[in-house]
Amino acid sequence: MIVLGIETSCDETAAAVVEDGRWVRSSVVAASTDLQSEFGGVVPELASRCHLKWIRPVLRRALRDAGVPLQEIGLIAVTQGPGLVGALMVGVSLSKGLALGLGIPLIGVQHLQAHLYAPCLGSKDPSRFFPAVGLLVSGGHTCLLLMNNPAEARILGQTRDDAAGEAFDKVAQALGLGYPGGPAVEACAAEGNASAYAFPRARVRGRPLDFSFSGLKTAVLYELRDRWGIPLGPGRADPELRRKIANQDRADLCASFQEVVVQTLISQTLEACERARVRTLLVGGGVAANGRLRECLDAAAAEHGLQLFVSERRYCIDNAAMIAGLGYALYRSGKGAGLDMSPDPRMPFFGLEPGSI
Ligand code: KG4
Ligand code: ZN
Repeated sequence: MIVLGIETSCDETAAAVVEDGRWVRSSVVAASTDLQSEFGGVVPELASRCHLKWIRPVLRRALRDAGVPLQEIGLIAVTQGPGLVGALMVGVSLSKGLALGLGIPLIGVQHLQAHLYAPCLGSKDPSRFFPAVGLLVSGGHTCLLLMNNPAEARILGQTRDDAAGEAFDKVAQALGLGYPGGPAVEACAAEGNASAYAFPRARVRGRPLDFSFSGLKTAVLYELRDRWGIPLGPGRADPELRRKIANQDRADLCASFQEVVVQTLISQTLEACERARVRTLLVGGGVAANGRLRECLDAAAAEHGLQLFVSERRYCIDNAAMIAGLGYALYRSGKGAGLDMSPDPRMPFFGLEPGSI
């Protein structure tokens, strides 16, 4: 079955054509990041307008790249939530129109669950991955899950405060490296010494699988204040102050910060696999694009005899192939959505109540 995936939950406008939930025939992503970076983050109204402008050319391109006419599409999978309501509305409205016009089924997909489906893309038989421990590392979530299948999971540990991606973004902002921060911090860290600064690694008392990255981020911000007089708080620093930071210091700060994030993620993920007695690990979300994290995951999996499946880099960031993939799996398990489906900005993660994650 040929599935068309549509994703517009945040600032990426994406469409993809995926066959049988596995084979990606095309995946097109247009990002308004450059525009948003002027504001240091995503401006919801701007995101909605960009989606409106881009969704049709992106869809046309996805169909053309796949060599598939609209008439061959058998199912439409669209991100229903979570996300920005105006942004979600663009993808959901287009999808409903297409489903109605083509007379084909429609399915609403939970964006974060789709990030954990991304490692399954390209595999002949995704069902062999389960049960698995899932590590979701995205802009808003850092979460460890015990997954029975792509649609059913139990949370083992989660963010208590800042998510890993959010910490990358805030540190990048304090250093004036732009948005999104993760790739910028990673690039800067490449020239740095990861043991130059002894930043703290937080543990959540009584909850060894929960994460807390806010203290680490604050430690970086204090260092910037104490050594270079950069005031605490986002976006308030005079660029002149930041220029006083030598390139090597900036690189050392980034490398030391990144190393603590990576080692925290690795050690808690290993602990989760041990506690759950599961030997398969799925990793997805924007932060999974980080080269140092990928390198350390590979080494840890080899050392501990785990089967590791990390999303390909291009499917770590927001994309529609993961939406089409999970949409197909859900459809095969009997789920679907009516044309009365609407965007759900707080759509529950694996059916769990909002607020429990
Ligand atoms: O998964 P995603 O697209 O966001 C949500 O769905 O929430 O991930 C975006 C996050 C941003 O915080 C971004 O800074 C981070 O992923 N990110 C990275 C890298 N690439 C993206 N973090 C660290 N290293 C990277 N290379
Ligand atoms: Zn995402």
